[in-house]
Amino acid sequence: METILVTGGAGFIGSHVCDKLLAKDKRVLCVDNLTMYYPPETKIKNIQHNLEHPNFKFLTLDIRKKDEIEQIFQNEKVDKIIHVAGRAGVRPSLEKPVWYKETNIDATVNLLELAREYKVKSFVFASSSSVYGNSTKVPFTEDDPCNKPISPYAATKKAAEILCYTYSKVYNIPIVCLRFFSVYGPRGRPDMAPLKFTKLIDAEKPIEMYGDGSSSRDWTYVEDIVDGILAASESGLKFEIVNLGNSYPIKLKSLIKTIEKYVGKKAKIKQYPAQAGDVEHTYANIGKAKELLGYQPKVLLDEGIKTLVDWYKKTK
Ligand SMILES: NC(=O)c1ccc[n+]([C@@H]2O[C@H](COP(=O)([O-])OP(=O)(O)OC[C@H]3O[C@@H](n4cnc5c(N)ncnc54)[C@H](O)[C@@H]3O)[C@@H](O)[C@H]2O)c1
Repeated sequence: METILVTGGAGFIGSHVCDKLLAKDKRVLCVDNLTMYYPPETKIKNIQHNLEHPNFKFLTLDIRKKDEIEQIFQNEKVDKIIHVAGRAGVRPSLEKPVWYKETNIDATVNLLELAREYKVKSFVFASSSSVYGNSTKVPFTEDDPCNKPISPYAATKKAAEILCYTYSKVYNIPIVCLRFFSVYGPRGRPDMAPLKFTKLIDAEKPIEMYGDGSSSRDWTYVEDIVDGILAASESGLKFEIVNLGNSYPIKLKSLIKTIEKYVGKKAKIKQYPAQAGDVEHTYANIGKAKELLGYQPKVLLDEGIKTLVDWYKKTK
């Protein structure tokens, strides 16, 4: 049975990755230090249903501490790494850039070092569409120049991609960097629009809309992202950077309307100027993901938001 180390496994995307791996009869070592970015209790809830699973082991460890993570490799044969842990969030990275550098760059190097020392078979890194910055050439394609990130968060993801390249080339480690485009779904991050707006609209509280609502995001349903992650982990690719998006950008105004439809209430919108660090549009070219990973997003926004709202109503 293959053993996969999933970093950030108690987070939004990571917890869904763990579920899918267990369903595929893999052994999962879920590492997460339950950062305070949002309540740790939420993250425990994300993995609660797996805690008794015989193939699941949860380790509350900080990937910035290489020695502690190394102990896992000394005790277990780790076949693959899916490195999803990260400090997410564009706007907060402007406030605390050093935290982002430590987790997204330094800790990624720790994991790459362990991948090298313990000869793991594959390494998947969670990168982000934010590396494209305010590129006006759409859709965003992997070989577009993206040396102009407009937030420390984006800069750390780009730096980590470059380090992944170096480790792959120098040490022959198969690595795939996946650029996720705005991911949403059940267990969604509470700081991101879909869940944040769902909660506020349901509670009849105002929502903050930055800009005039014409900015757009290529919202991608979490199950589709997870399919792409697992395909990358199993691909045997030597080194690739691959977009995982939906290739169907949605205006902020339309996102709000869709949430209103399923919550069954009208949003009270408070409009503010667009914020520093936020890009105007994201739009993924997913041709490479289709070709190399057989990736095909299946869930359209309407269905995905309905599932998110149903989940929220059931669990709130
Ligand atoms: N959600 C999105 O739309 C999106 C888009 C692009 C990229 N990403 C990237 O995907 C990854 C997962 O995002 P998410 O939305 O699931 O976020 P999340 O915050 O829900 O998950 C990240 C997890 O990493 C853990 N973590 C953070 N620092 C850690 C450390 N030092 N040691 C151990 N664990 C640590 C956190 O506790 C958290 O559970 C992140 O790297 C993020 O940058 C997410």
